[in-house]
Amino acid sequence: MAVTHSLLERTLSLLEQPPVAEARAFFAPGRANLLGAHLDYNGGCVLPVALSKGTCVIMTPRSDRRLRLRSTQFPGQPVELEIDELTPRRTTGWSAYLEGALYECRRVWGEFQGFNIDVCSDLPMAKGLSSSASIESVIVFAMAHWMDVNTTPDEMIRLAHAAETEYVGVRCGILDQTAIFLAKPDSLLVFDCTELTREYLPLNSEEVVIAVVDSCTARELATSAFNQRVAECTQALGILQTHLPGITCLRDVRRASFETLQGSLPEPLRSRVAHVVGEVERTEWAADALRHGDLASFGNAMVQAHHSMRDLYHVSTPEIDLLVEAAIAVPGCYGARLTGAGFGGCIAALVRPDAMAEFSKVVPAAFLLDTGRQTEVMAFRPAGGPAEWQLP
Ligand code: GLA
Repeated sequence: MAVTHSLLERTLSLLEQPPVAEARAFFAPGRANLLGAHLDYNGGCVLPVALSKGTCVIMTPRSDRRLRLRSTQFPGQPVELEIDELTPRRTTGWSAYLEGALYECRRVWGEFQGFNIDVCSDLPMAKGLSSSASIESVIVFAMAHWMDVNTTPDEMIRLAHAAETEYVGVRCGILDQTAIFLAKPDSLLVFDCTELTREYLPLNSEEVVIAVVDSCTARELATSAFNQRVAECTQALGILQTHLPGITCLRDVRRASFETLQGSLPEPLRSRVAHVVGEVERTEWAADALRHGDLASFGNAMVQAHHSMRDLYHVSTPEIDLLVEAAIAVPGCYGARLTGAGFGGCIAALVRPDAMAEFSKVVPAAFLLDTGRQTEVMAFRPAGGPAEWQLP
C-alpha cells in the first residue's frame, strides 16, 4: 500500500533501510481539553477532544533483549538499553515516557523481545497538547497489538497513566490518556473521573473548528509547578475533610459548603478550591448547553474557565492571556482558553469555519504586535483514537 501520511513518511526516514516484513507502525493522537481544567486529579468531569496530530512509532523486532529508541525530535540522541534496565526514574531524558510505557506493559503483560523503536511526532512538544501522553499511549497500544493481549481501553489508559506517574514522576490525573484512548471523530468526550462514565457529544466540523495557537513560551518548571498544584489540592482536601468527613475529592465540595468553610483555608488553597468548585459547575452547565447544540454558551464557559485558571489557579502567562483576548475578539470565535496544565503552551479556541480566515490573520497579527513574536494557527477537527498504520 502506498504511504500517504507524511508523519509515517517522516518516521520511516529514521530507518537506515526499508522496514523489514515484521515491522509494524502505530499512531496515537494528542488532545486539547476544552473544559474541566485541573479537574481530573480532583475527581471531576473533563471534556476533551483528540487532535489529528500525534505520535507515530515503527516497531522493528530484534533477536536479542535490547531496546534501541530513536526520535526525529531528538536527532543524534538515540537511547540503547537492555529490557532489564527499565526502571522507574532511570532517566529524565526524552525516552522516559516511552520507557515508562514499555515498563508498565512488561510489568502487567509479561516478557517481550527486544525492539528498535523509531518515533516521530507532528505535535508541538511541551505545549499543552499531550505530546507525552501521546507517546505513552502509542507504545501501550502497539505492545497490546504486538503481544496480542486481550485488553481494554481502560486497562491501556491505566498503563499509559502509570508510565507517567511511576516512571516519569509527574502526578498527573487520567485526562490525557483517557482523551486519547476513548476519542471518537467529530465528538467531544464527557468523562467523569470519579464514576469513570463517558458520554460523547457531537462537535461537528461543519459547525466548528478547533483552532490551536502557540504562545511560544517555554514551560519552565512546569512539572514542579504542576506537582505543587496537585499537592495544594491534597492539602486543601485534608482541611475540608475535617469539616466534611464524607468527601473523597474536591469535586465533592459544592458551592454552599465552600462558602461556609472557605475561611478555614489559607491562601493559595482557598483560590485553588474556588477554581475547582467553579469549574465543576461550568463543566456541568456547559455539557448541558452542548447537548442542546448551544455553542455560544459552551464557548462562554471556556472563557470563564480561562479567567479562573488565570486568577485563581495561577497557571496562565501574559502571552496566553493575550492570545485568549485576541481570539475572543474575533467575530465567530465562540470561546478560547489555555489548553493543558498551563505555565505556557497553547490556547484552544472554538471558531466558526467561515471565521477561520479572519481568525488566522488577526490573532497572530495581534500577538506579533504585542510580543514581537510570530505564531500560527493550527486548525483541527476532533479526531479518533490510536490506530495501526500499514507500512509500505
Ligand atoms: C496535564 C495533566 C492532566 C491534567 C491537565 C490539567 O495535562 O497531565 O492530567 O491535570 O494537565 O487539566
